[in-house]
Amino acid sequence: MTSDGTATAEWGRILASRTGAGVGEGLASILSLSGAGDVISFSGGFPDPATFPGEVLADIVRELVLSGDASAFQYGPTEGLPGPRDFIAGRLQDREGRRPEDRELVITSGAIEALELLGKACLDRADVVLVEAPTYLGAIMAFRSFETDVRAVPIDDDGLRVDLLEQALSVGERPKLLYTIPDHQNPAGVSLSMERRLALVDMARRYGLLLIEDVAYREMGFGSERPDSLWALAPDSVVQVGTFSKTFFPGVRLGWAVGPPQVVTELVRAKQVTDQCAGALGQRLLEEYGRRGLLEAQNERARALYGARCRLLLDALENEMPAGVAWTRPGGGFFTWLTLPEGVSAVALAERAMEQRVAFVPGPPFFPDGQGDSNLRLAFSRIREDDIVEGARRLGVMIRRAMEGGA
Ligand SMILES: Cc1ncc(COP(=O)(O)O)c(C=O)c1O
Repeated sequence: MTSDGTATAEWGRILASRTGAGVGEGLASILSLSGAGDVISFSGGFPDPATFPGEVLADIVRELVLSGDASAFQYGPTEGLPGPRDFIAGRLQDREGRRPEDRELVITSGAIEALELLGKACLDRADVVLVEAPTYLGAIMAFRSFETDVRAVPIDDDGLRVDLLEQALSVGERPKLLYTIPDHQNPAGVSLSMERRLALVDMARRYGLLLIEDVAYREMGFGSERPDSLWALAPDSVVQVGTFSKTFFPGVRLGWAVGPPQVVTELVRAKQVTDQCAGALGQRLLEEYGRRGLLEAQNERARALYGARCRLLLDALENEMPAGVAWTRPGGGFFTWLTLPEGVSAVALAERAMEQRVAFVPGPPFFPDGQGDSNLRLAFSRIREDDIVEGARRLGVMIRRAMEGGA
């Protein structure tokens, strides 16, 4: 016993390895980096609070309280409340051309919970999971926490290299799942071409592979192009995971999964012992806000804001980056992805960047296998316009110095 009466435990024996060092650190360190006051931060993939709903939400809460309908304040069904489910199903019908059946949809506490539920429902220890790489760090962490073998399939400017996937599958690799972000990907900002979408769903069917399509940035496209979602192309072989974090606000912690009923039934079962149901108040706020057309109006404003910031950043990079640095030109989303010249380390640069009061995320956390030291991610979603230009200038100076071998 210690002096305050608590037992001294051997924590190494008590704590499980699945959440141990290396599994959960990545996201926490990104979130902490983005907080320092005087730092120009390109790090966290946060929506800008200027896009959040504002006062109308107070009116909706008031109406819910006064209506006498207790559903917003009560426990709800694990798969989600009927009204919000109908709202989300209707949106999928409008946007994807297919309305999920009841057994194909579950409302989750954010997309990250949907990924965790998929891990719980599908993955046994040592199973192989493929992820496009680079990819969303939270997905790598979620799959790894089930003690799986997470392997990388490279991407290029047209998204996942389906030719390399086919090669791996044709020599006998038998992964259960493949995780992809087909629209304005995190961290690279690229999208999967239509031709590759068709090839990918065809491959999934031929090899018995379940595709997990994360559509976190699908509604944040700056132009009119909107290729079919994988789920719309192959609802029998795809689970689509979505989030309202970028389109409504992340504090509500709401998302969805739609997919084959055999899988969704298991997600609902798994959810009974995580949070039992996504918060009912958030579900009802979303539904009321959405049915009044306010979600679509908010997203139009958000797309304009992020599109303008993206253009500003791309121009600033053009002006400030030395020859030899390359970057992606996103058609939507929150991020661009830089490739540094040979010999310049993004991790070393990130350490020095803090002295220059500028922050970004170096590439390695976005890969399951330690690649990425010549890459870095810049998020343009929550950064003031003046800071974009000054931040790019500081980065340009630092990269130039690193190329010359200086500090
Ligand atoms: C690709 C991707 N998926 C999912 C999420 C997380 O979504 P949620 O806030 O709904 O958990 C993010 C957030 O950064 C993301 O970039």
